[in-house]
Amino acid sequence: MTPEETLKQFETFLQLKVDEYFPPINDLNKAVRYSLLAPGKRIRPFLSLAFCDYFQGNMEMAMRCGVAIEMIHCYSLIHDDLPAMDNDDFRRGQPSCHKQFSESTAILAGDALLTMAPLFLLKELPRFCSTERAIELTELLLTSSGHEGMIRGQLLDIEHEAKSLEASSELDLETLKNIHALKTGELFNYSCLAGLYSHSDDQLIKLKKELILDFSTKLGLSFQIIDDILDETASFENLGKTPGKDKESGKLTYVKIFGLIGAKKEAHTLLDELEKILLSDSMKNNADLIKTVLTDLRKKLP
Ligand code: IPE
Ligand code: IPE
Ligand code: MG
Ligand code: MG
Ligand code: MG
Repeated sequence: MTPEETLKQFETFLQLKVDEYFPPINDLNKAVRYSLLAPGKRIRPFLSLAFCDYFQGNMEMAMRCGVAIEMIHCYSLIHDDLPAMDNDDFRRGQPSCHKQFSESTAILAGDALLTMAPLFLLKELPRFCSTERAIELTELLLTSSGHEGMIRGQLLDIEHEAKSLEASSELDLETLKNIHALKTGELFNYSCLAGLYSHSDDQLIKLKKELILDFSTKLGLSFQIIDDILDETASFENLGKTPGKDKESGKLTYVKIFGLIGAKKEAHTLLDELEKILLSDSMKNNADLIKTVLTDLRKKLP
């Protein structure tokens, strides 16, 4: 399948499952649908499908993991945009959830997505794999997005807002890498691992897990660095969200520490390393879908 066909197939499946689990029968469900079905890039589910394709795993499983990932991701965006967090009025090219509905509805829509994601996996996965594997995939998702994963990253991100840089840039960089690894990297790790775990071979999973985690960690970091760069350089039309917000709130970003040129250099270096992994003996065959993620990211770099 081409990347476009893969994305289209996921979008159709997402729409189907959203109709099933969140029919538009009340304001809460309407708010969930408004945010979840808005045009996101779907890079995380795409990664699950790309890694599943690479390992020739079960696509039915990867699709379902992708839906659960988008639910968690979308909840994190709805809460991220709230006045108490980043206070953003636009998301995915439309007013953010709390602007379109109300703050309380947006908080609850996020809660609904967060609770549905594991429920969805536990209901849907056992048709295609062992109960143990379904529980394992659910646990992994909750660990990566939980209080020692993405949520912790979000907390640190807010805590380091409007702070002056430390005397040592090494200290700042260490903190920033940790924030990015947690708030963004953790879900990227899960997205890629879900593709691998959609295979029934336990030995294969054991053998390849570290390689995939190395790849996804670098990918998550490069993705967030590029998000930091685009916040300074891109237009509203391109971003679908208000640019310039990171500087305004004094976020700790790669651009803040290294400037635009330094941040771009860092992103290119990471993308170079990622391309090298794909060219290595262990990954050089059938990684076409994964490769397109890197090509698309490189194109975004101004
Ligand atoms: C936004 O993620 C949050 C970050 C981690 C930078 P995306 O850039 O993937 O947002 P959507 O899903 O395309 O809207
Ligand atoms: C958000 O990072 C990460 C999560 C929502 C977990 P950002 O705050 O940089 O994302 P944007 O720029 O609002 O999309
Ligand atoms: Mg944020
Ligand atoms: Mg934000
Ligand atoms: Mg951002």
